[in-house]
Amino acid sequence: MSGMKGGALFLTRLNAVAAEIEALLGRLLAVAPTEDEVARPGRLLEAMRYASLGGGKRLRPFLVVEAAALFGVAREHALLAGAAIECVHCYSLVHDDLPAMDDDALRRGQPTVHKAFDEATAILAGDSLLTFAFDILSRPDTHPNAAVRVGLVLALARAAGLGGMAGGQMLDLAAEGRFAGGRPERLGEGEIITLQAMKTGALLRFACVAGAMLGEAGAEKRGALDRYGAALGQAFQIADDLLDVEGDAATLGKAAGKDAAAGKATLVGVLGPAEARIRLAQLVAEAETALAPFGKDALWLKAAARFVAERRA
Ligand code: IPE
Ligand code: IPE
Ligand code: MG
Ligand code: MG
Ligand code: MG
Repeated sequence: MSGMKGGALFLTRLNAVAAEIEALLGRLLAVAPTEDEVARPGRLLEAMRYASLGGGKRLRPFLVVEAAALFGVAREHALLAGAAIECVHCYSLVHDDLPAMDDDALRRGQPTVHKAFDEATAILAGDSLLTFAFDILSRPDTHPNAAVRVGLVLALARAAGLGGMAGGQMLDLAAEGRFAGGRPERLGEGEIITLQAMKTGALLRFACVAGAMLGEAGAEKRGALDRYGAALGQAFQIADDLLDVEGDAATLGKAAGKDAAAGKATLVGVLGPAEARIRLAQLVAEAETALAPFGKDALWLKAAARFVAERRA
């Protein structure tokens, strides 16, 4: 399958997961407190719902669902794990947009959380979404085997924290020269690849590996998804950085053309758009090759790698 028809079928499948995630997060973020919670403050809950509902491609949950499907995992389990990862992703966007970070006013076509609410509420909504992810992963509904759940919790903590996403965000801001008297750091290619493997790659890679963990897969297949996720993650941020240069806010639903002015360290900046596009194509091929052990079953994950490179938003 290829071309337009394949692309349309992929989008139908992606949108189906997006609708399921939307409904699931809506239920999880209900007004009523859950067991052992004291109360759910209305303003905080509203900000969490604003940050996590009504938008986003839901690519990370899609990767969990499709990777888990390779091992026959029940869809409810994959969706819960996907919802947990999406909570971390949404938190990362809320904090990424804060004035102290990228200072953005538009996200998913709407005012950012600190604009629609206020900075303190945005910080707390981010904190609460991050914590909520671990709440979801720890629930027996997510997987009957407690050892699997602990494995997921540990792997998400590693992907999201110091040595993963948050660490990558630190390197991203440091490269802008925030902490060195305003002078950008001019990172080399290898350093940018590391930065991006952390800030964006770690969570996408975990989404792929989570499917294997839910399926209690062996080392070979888990390793294959790990390699696929690493290549896809790198491709994803190159595409995001190309869209910052070549896209527009109306299509993207977020500001464009800010990275170069902010002194962001990107491969597009170092290699130029044409070379970055070649790199992107190589990474898509690398991602597809990594899926060889799954044969034809990996059809949708292969389509996801192409989507990451070709998307317009
Ligand atoms: C944007 O992620 C932020 C990055 C990690 C580069 P997405 O492009 O997946 O954002 P949504 O979830 O679709 O809005
Ligand atoms: C954001 O990267 C990565 C995380 C939120 C962890 P960007 O700053 O490039 O994402 P956008 O362009 O604002 O979506
Ligand atoms: Mg950023
Ligand atoms: Mg940003
Ligand atoms: Mg960006």
